[in-house]
Amino acid sequence: MAIYMASDYSLNTLGAKLCLEAAGDLVTKAIQPIQNSSQVRLADYGIADGGTTQGLWQQIIATVKKQNNGVFVEAIFSDLPSNDFNALGKTSSFLMQGDQNLVVSMVPRSFYEPVCPPNSLDFGFSSTAMHWLSKLPKHLTYHTHINVCEQGEDKAMFQAQSQLDWTTILLARAKELKSGGQIVSANLSTDEKGRYLGNNQVDLNMHDILHEIWKQMQIEGLIKPEEYVGATFQNYYRTEAEFAACLEEPESEVYQAGLRLGDIRTMQIPCPYRSQYEDDQDTEKFAQGLTQTIRSWSEHTFRNALTNRSNKDVLDIVNQFYARFTARVRENPGQFSMDYTHTHLRIYKE
Ligand SMILES: C[S@@+](CC[C@H](N)C(=O)[O-])C[C@H]1O[C@@H](n2cnc3c(N)ncnc32)[C@H](O)[C@@H]1O
Repeated sequence: MAIYMASDYSLNTLGAKLCLEAAGDLVTKAIQPIQNSSQVRLADYGIADGGTTQGLWQQIIATVKKQNNGVFVEAIFSDLPSNDFNALGKTSSFLMQGDQNLVVSMVPRSFYEPVCPPNSLDFGFSSTAMHWLSKLPKHLTYHTHINVCEQGEDKAMFQAQSQLDWTTILLARAKELKSGGQIVSANLSTDEKGRYLGNNQVDLNMHDILHEIWKQMQIEGLIKPEEYVGATFQNYYRTEAEFAACLEEPESEVYQAGLRLGDIRTMQIPCPYRSQYEDDQDTEKFAQGLTQTIRSWSEHTFRNALTNRSNKDVLDIVNQFYARFTARVRENPGQFSMDYTHTHLRIYKE
């Protein structure tokens, strides 16, 4: 299944920027030990167009330069080949602008694979990306997102895939990191109260509403039953325990590969579109903004379900789908939001 973000990703994702900024203190802690080196390699996994992380990377590079007099820095910005690398190229050249001691390389490769040579990485960062599984365990026949579903056989399948994937991601990083190197990974997750992206347990559950509208379109005959089932998010929002397990169990492959958990914490980041609405009471702006931010990461899941249709048909259906979502927000703005549940990990290699 092709995973890609809509173009203009960073313009439509104010919340993702707040999430990664909230991990800033862990980033400072992780790069602090990089001192008196002549060459430093840094990496970002799942960077999209680089717009949301541009400020963070400027700070990281400036700090590394300050701590390492005359250092040459290489920053590797990676994402899937389907990513908008033209837009990322613009961010990368903006960061380099005339700096003779900085090279930004773009690597169109999954974080399930290596993106830099073994034992060469000083610091790696990833934000709001590693909830994307390497493959979809199965298409759900009764919902579009597994985290909404009760514990059972299907959830167990997604959990198993998610554990396998997390192990694969970490083993790849264990190879890349130098001894003493660190990564900070800030992830969509599930907290101890069961909250996750778009489910703050106060407002309507965003994933339930998306599903309800998709199901209704099937009931009305606008999409076929197999298209309804075709839209299952290739996602899983892990819990802290699920993130931590293989980093803490001495017999795990990840632990044996030398990775250790430095810090872990989970926080709620309020939906910036809802906060703005509370201030200005501009319902239309809120309905459009919230829809756009959700569309930026969800559209490809619904598009992928609409195989064997003309481009025009696909566009008409997804336009109608999101127009219905906008209408729902417009009718009831006080019950919509997309708060983020985010777990931050600082991991180091012994
Ligand atoms: C929501 S965006 C986050 C972008 C940016 N890191 C941020 O925090 O704003 C998720 C990104 O993860 C990327 N992604 C998903 N699966 C990936 C994989 N297996 N390897 C690399 N990137 C992946 C997507 O292509 C997308 O650009």
